[in-house]
Amino acid sequence: VKDKPIGIFDSGLGGITVLRSLLEKFPNESFIYIGDLARLPYGNKSPDTIRKYGEQILNYLNKMGTKAVVIACNSASTVFLGEDSYNGIPLFNVIEPGANLAAKTTKNNKVAVMSTTATMKAHAYKKELLKCNPNLLVEEKATPLLVPLAEEGWLHEKITKDIIQKYLNEIELKFDTLILGCTHYPILRDDIKNCLSPDIMLIESGDALAINLDEKLKLLDLKSTDSNHRTIQILTTDLTEHFETLAHNLVKPYKINSFERITL
Ligand code: DGL
Repeated sequence: VKDKPIGIFDSGLGGITVLRSLLEKFPNESFIYIGDLARLPYGNKSPDTIRKYGEQILNYLNKMGTKAVVIACNSASTVFLGEDSYNGIPLFNVIEPGANLAAKTTKNNKVAVMSTTATMKAHAYKKELLKCNPNLLVEEKATPLLVPLAEEGWLHEKITKDIIQKYLNEIELKFDTLILGCTHYPILRDDIKNCLSPDIMLIESGDALAINLDEKLKLLDLKSTDSNHRTIQILTTDLTEHFETLAHNLVKPYKINSFERITL
C-alpha cells in the first residue's frame, strides 16, 4: 500500500497549486490528479451538487487504488468537512489546516478570507477559525471572479488587479492575515500581494496541508519509501491544450508524466 499513489482533485487548475506544494514536500510520493474541467466552476453550485461530483471523483480514485485522497478544492472540502475517510481511504481537506495556520499567524486577531461563494456561504473558515481561537474576528468575502481569471492565465493584467482591488476594498476588517480560501487564488498570488500592504500575511492551502498530511501518513505508516519511481498523472473530464500548458507551468520544475481524459 505504501507505494500506491496519493489521489488529489479539484474542479480545474486550482488544485495544481496544492499538488505543486506536495511534490516538493513529498519527493517519494506519486500522485494522480483529477481536474473536473467539464463541470468547472464548483464554487457557485449547491452543496448537494458539489457533494455528488466529489463522491464520483472519490469513487474513481478509490478504484484506481490511491492510498489517500487530498481534496484540493475548498468548495468541495466544505461539503466533506469533518470526514477523515471515505470508503476506508484517508481523506484530507484544505480548510482545517488553512484555518489552523491562519489562527497561529495573526497578531491582531483579525483574519479575512477570500473564497468562492459556496465556501463563503458554508462559513467553513469562520467556524474552523473560531474553534482555534474564539477571540478572532473574521470577515469572509466571496471573490468568484478570480477563478476564471486564474483558469484563463490572466496574471499581471490590469483588469485582474482592478478586480482584486475592488474585492479587497469591500472588506471592512483591518486584517493582518488573509486566507486564500480557494486553491485557484495562489495562481494570482503576485497580483493579490501587489494590492496589499507588504506586512499582510497570506495563507495558502497547499503549505498548510502538507504538514498535516506528513504527520498522518507517518502515523498510518503510509509514507512511500520508493524515491526512484515517482509518477505524476493528470486525469481530466475535459482536456484542452491550454490546460496542459498551464498545468506544466504550474508544477515546474517537476514533470507531469501523462494527461488523460476520463469519464466519471
Ligand atoms: N479551486 C476550487 C476551490 O478551492 C474551486 C473553484 C471553482 O471551481 O469555483 O474552491
